Amino acid sequence: MTVEAIRALNTVDWLLIPRKGAAKAELAELRRAICERFLENPATRIVEFDMPERDAAGVEAWHAAIAAIWRGLLAGAEGSVGLLVWGDPALYDSTLRILDRLAADGLAFSRRVIPGITSLQALAARHAIPLNAIGGAVQVTTGRRLRAGVPDAEAIAVMLDAGGAFETVPAEDYDIFWGAYLGMPQEIAVAGPLAEVGGRIAEARAAARAEHGWIMDVYLLRRR
Ligand SMILES: C[S@@+](CC[C@H](N)C(=O)[O-])C[C@H]1O[C@@H](n2cnc3c(N)ncnc32)[C@H](O)[C@@H]1O
Repeated sequence: MTVEAIRALNTVDWLLIPRKGAAKAELAELRRAICERFLENPATRIVEFDMPERDAAGVEAWHAAIAAIWRGLLAGAEGSVGLLVWGDPALYDSTLRILDRLAADGLAFSRRVIPGITSLQALAARHAIPLNAIGGAVQVTTGRRLRAGVPDAEAIAVMLDAGGAFETVPAEDYDIFWGAYLGMPQEIAVAGPLAEVGGRIAEARAAARAEHGWIMDVYLLRRR
């Protein structure tokens, strides 16, 4: 939480907090913990709602369902509404796209984003590394895309990996900087030549996932 975010949190009239089901209860809990720690405005109305499941109907239907819930909760609401976004909404987050839907449906509002710390920043800080080589490019991508083909960039940042996509790249050519639960008490980080530490990362990931019931991890592959 940046100082700017704490200030903004204390000026909103409404705060929407998603409940994401038992497996991700820890994440909703974290949002509650943030409110307990930083929210000092007794007038703020905290509204919890059940996040719809993303099913076979696809991402468009899922966004439409979330938009419908927000519209229902905020019907007749006046003033400002706060949404706590994980990291920053600029990176693999659909909050702003869902707001686009509400605007397209005729809801009149303006929006303001308070920049947050993305998982990539947390990763770079944890390993005390720059993401890019001097004057170099960084490609930010997903585990699924990495499996489909290794990008040409000398630095590849991988998010949303359901597990093990780094095992599909030529291990001798890359160093890996990996981190899970970054910024949280259960944070784990491993770095080194992919050929040497890849197996250890896969094991640590599986064990942590089994222990906590969920995992979020991110990594940088840097060409050697
Ligand atoms: C839906 S995206 C959200 C990204 C987020 N908006 C951000 O700014 O980082 C979720 C992915 O972000 C990464 N991620 C988010 N938080 C993380 C954390 N605390 N530690 C490690 N990876 C994280 C993981 O790759 C995860 O699969």
